[in-house]
Amino acid sequence: MTNNTWSDRFEEGLNPEIERFNASIGFDIELLQEDLDGSIAHARMLGECGVISFDESIQIERALEEIRSENSLGQFIPEISDEDVHFAVEKRLIEKLGSLGKKLHTGRSRNDQVGLDIRLWLRRKMDFLDKELEGFQIVLLSKAEQSLNILIPGYTHLQRAQPLSLAHHLLAYVEMLERDRKRLADARKRVNVSPLGAAALAGTSVPIDRRKTAKLLNFDDIYLNSLDAVSDRDFAVEFTTVAALIMVHLSRLSEEVILWASEEFSFVSLTDRCATGSSLMPQKKNPDVPELVRGKCGRVFGHLQGLLTIMKGLPLAYNKDFQEDKEALFDVVRTTQDCVNAMTILFHEGLEFRSDSLSRAVTSDFSNATDVADYLVTKGVPFREAYQLVGSVVKRCIQQGLLLRDLTLDQWQEVSPFFQKDIYDRILPKAVVASRTSEGGTGFIRVEEQLNHWKNRFGL
Ligand code: ARG
Repeated sequence: MTNNTWSDRFEEGLNPEIERFNASIGFDIELLQEDLDGSIAHARMLGECGVISFDESIQIERALEEIRSENSLGQFIPEISDEDVHFAVEKRLIEKLGSLGKKLHTGRSRNDQVGLDIRLWLRRKMDFLDKELEGFQIVLLSKAEQSLNILIPGYTHLQRAQPLSLAHHLLAYVEMLERDRKRLADARKRVNVSPLGAAALAGTSVPIDRRKTAKLLNFDDIYLNSLDAVSDRDFAVEFTTVAALIMVHLSRLSEEVILWASEEFSFVSLTDRCATGSSLMPQKKNPDVPELVRGKCGRVFGHLQGLLTIMKGLPLAYNKDFQEDKEALFDVVRTTQDCVNAMTILFHEGLEFRSDSLSRAVTSDFSNATDVADYLVTKGVPFREAYQLVGSVVKRCIQQGLLLRDLTLDQWQEVSPFFQKDIYDRILPKAVVASRTSEGGTGFIRVEEQLNHWKNRFGL
């Protein structure tokens, strides 16, 4: 099917540069499997509804499967003049079946066809992405299981705040990713609605059965309104917002790894499997993986803006602008998937937590100051008063180059007579962490509960 044979209305061929400009075959070939699946369902339905004979529908289905095989053997090679994947398949079908091939497009338009293909494609990719996210959660969980008793400074404002179980820190990301997966599952409901049979925009006079094709293709429902069916790309925008949040989460973890791998933090060392060297500085080991993940957010956020802009102000129903949705969506899916995969590998074999420097870090600061105040609270001192007292102790320690544990009992008691010998045990980092037993806190028993929750969730 060349572009000058759409119908007899056209006498002249397209300007070759316009032909290239107009064509989407260079990228929408990505939809080939879905185009074939959709066409097979359509042909079957036409056969079952008696629009074409049963035998004709079988022949069409077989020929479409042959095209699938030709493609897998590298023998299906569309040309620019085919314009898009839909025309390319139809042209090949007609080459194979002659005039019978020309019956496939009965009661269908490329407008509902492209909407169908992209939904089928995205549904498959979303299911795969969900599995990948689960795989990453499981890797983080197994790292967390190994790190219950490793302590890491917890920060607010990137200032040392209170020590944490490293498992607690890692499980925060498992929970974020769980929300991402829930959002994916919810967005999937809006992807999983069939537009097929809306035809060009108004439906068709051909006695088709839209619910039959929807069922054959495992859709939950069909669009009620044919105009909405062919002009809706909300689901693409919605998926991209979900992907953008996934990227936000990955970039936050990436940033932490980048900081942790620096000389200044030294909380992790990067293994040779996932780090690169510098072409000039022989001592360097660079965290390229998390840096790339952080950088690739730009693509996904950009595509979100792009898709919203494509949709804005478009009149009903199909507009060629929609053709621009594909490269954006393809890149969002590929980028997000790549990043989840790279982060999974990074946490599986690309980094090791340095328990030596982590334990040095949690024993060389004032992140136990809140616990001194809490200690006084248990003796009946009002919190705000205790807070003031401990603030003055910290100030004194800083002036004298001491840590809280270096104070003598006399010095403690000068501050408040309530201090007893047990203050020393109470401010050990392990005790500080263990004491945070409120639900969802970093106390070891609470973190163990979290670990068990996730192990159950993943059937481990
Ligand atoms: N290649 C087109 C797209 O991606 C397919 C639908 C074309 N429909 C049309 N009426 N020109 O949107």
